[in-house]
Amino acid sequence: MSEHPHHHSMPKATGFHLKLKEGTQSLHDQAESGNFQVRMVNGELARVEFGAFLGQMKHIHATLDPAMQSAAARDQRVAQIFEESHLRHDRIEQDLADLSHEELAAPLPAAAHYIGYINERIEADPVSIIGALYVKEGATNGNKFIAKKLRETMELEEGKAMGYLDPHGKDQRRCWTAFKEKLNELELTEQEEDRCLEVARETFLMVMEVSKQMPEAKPVTSQS
Ligand code: HEM
Repeated sequence: MSEHPHHHSMPKATGFHLKLKEGTQSLHDQAESGNFQVRMVNGELARVEFGAFLGQMKHIHATLDPAMQSAAARDQRVAQIFEESHLRHDRIEQDLADLSHEELAAPLPAAAHYIGYINERIEADPVSIIGALYVKEGATNGNKFIAKKLRETMELEEGKAMGYLDPHGKDQRRCWTAFKEKLNELELTEQEEDRCLEVARETFLMVMEVSKQMPEAKPVTSQS
């Protein structure tokens, strides 16, 4: 098989992946156009704002990472798709150190709400955590661009502070393709798939709500 460098066409989504993609498409459109996300894409975030956002994600992953590990230990389907590279907490910690972002704010209401939600789901229905994994892995596609932009505007050295946004580096494409294939190999009932989709949707809403609740750093020149 030839590997053409300009081959951009993707195989059409199918199966469980298609269900997750279609079921969250409108949320993705909304998430992408949110003020905080637009400023991220444009590289307009101040270091302190990026640090504050990562701080919220650190709270999230302090719950989500062990939740995924425990789900993988309890459910074979989760074990089939979950990998160590999906964990984000320690990467975030390193990013915050790279940014010299020392003070960690308490979880915003939207983060606290989601943490409670994940704790409840993980007890009741470990397999549904796959929905959160889907959003976290899918988001690395757009986050890779954001990382590139922020790296420039924040004048960060290569390899600094982007462990959360760009966890897979040059393996991004391969990881995402493999992840989608694994999704479609999972033996889930329709009801289980629906509950994964529900968790995926809640995960999108969490990222959007946390972004909205982020206090915006005021430029010093702004008029009041
Ligand atoms: C901030 C601006 C964003 C941009 C520019 C962006 C861009 C993209 C792009 C280009 C893809 C397609 C990747 C591919 O299949 O080749 C993608 C997929 C995805 N993004 Fe985003 N994204 C953004 C925000 C987000 C946010 C905030 C989330 C969730 C928290 C998210 C979650 C996802 C997911 C789950 C997918 C996979 C969709 C699928 O199943 O094909 N994205 N994004």
